[in-house]
Amino acid sequence: MQTVTEVKALRAMVRGWRGKGESVGLVPTMGNLHEGHYSLLKQARVHCDRVVASVFVNPTQFGPGEDFERYPRTLAQDQAGLAEHGCDLVFAPSVETMYPFGLYDTVHVTVPRLTKSLEGAHRPGHFDGMSTVVCKLFNIVQPDVAVFGQKDFQQLRVIERFVRDLGLPVVVLSAPIVREADGLAMSSRNQYLSTEQRRIAPQIQRTLEGMREQLTQGKTPAQVSAWAVDRLEKAGFDPDYAVVRRSEDLAEPAPDERSGRVALIAARLGDTRLIDNLLLD
Ligand code: PAF
Repeated sequence: MQTVTEVKALRAMVRGWRGKGESVGLVPTMGNLHEGHYSLLKQARVHCDRVVASVFVNPTQFGPGEDFERYPRTLAQDQAGLAEHGCDLVFAPSVETMYPFGLYDTVHVTVPRLTKSLEGAHRPGHFDGMSTVVCKLFNIVQPDVAVFGQKDFQQLRVIERFVRDLGLPVVVLSAPIVREADGLAMSSRNQYLSTEQRRIAPQIQRTLEGMREQLTQGKTPAQVSAWAVDRLEKAGFDPDYAVVRRSEDLAEPAPDERSGRVALIAARLGDTRLIDNLLLD
């Protein structure tokens, strides 16, 4: 497994594979990899002859006061893990390579309506930065397939949307959330948690399961949301949202809608913001 930092070197490798008729999968990451990321790699391997993983902490998807500076950067450890999990090539570009015209004078990819709610409402600009860098990565690598985790559920829908709208020739696949033994969704941000916060954190998944249970008992999405916010607050969280949405477009479901729904939570424990979701129907 090789690591390249320049677009030219990456393209030369990909061109070589294409010349032999091999298909290419891409797993975009911000590094600090865990089993959740490796499950994406595994899925890419099933569909493609070659797999590229990108490792890039993208500054434009972090807002002011967010954790860009302290986001864990562990390239050597990531390279070892990727080699072990069958990655063919790591693309670890610099900020200058990804943003040749600087961070503020770059072309942006903006997905309208879908990015206005939930994460978009609580992290203004996040989805523009994310969509822009993923679109750049698609153009640089030109993969046949790209794999993303369902934990970032809205991110997945946003990517699917701009791929379709811009007619990009890549198949977007998703992989299920990978959880710790106690139910906490794996995330690079879990390591920010203190011992006490780590003990409380699995309550997010329990609350999602409770939301499913409440809906089964005939409660409305609004009642379920109020119940979940209260439960999270009592457990020690500061919730940004706990809602039931249509999984297809994240719109509010009609009160009598009983299929294709997802429960989504974003909540803070101290300085750490955690997100999770559960497909309901
Ligand atoms: O999900 C992530 O880790 C990031 O948002 C992504 C897709 C790698 C873009 O920077």
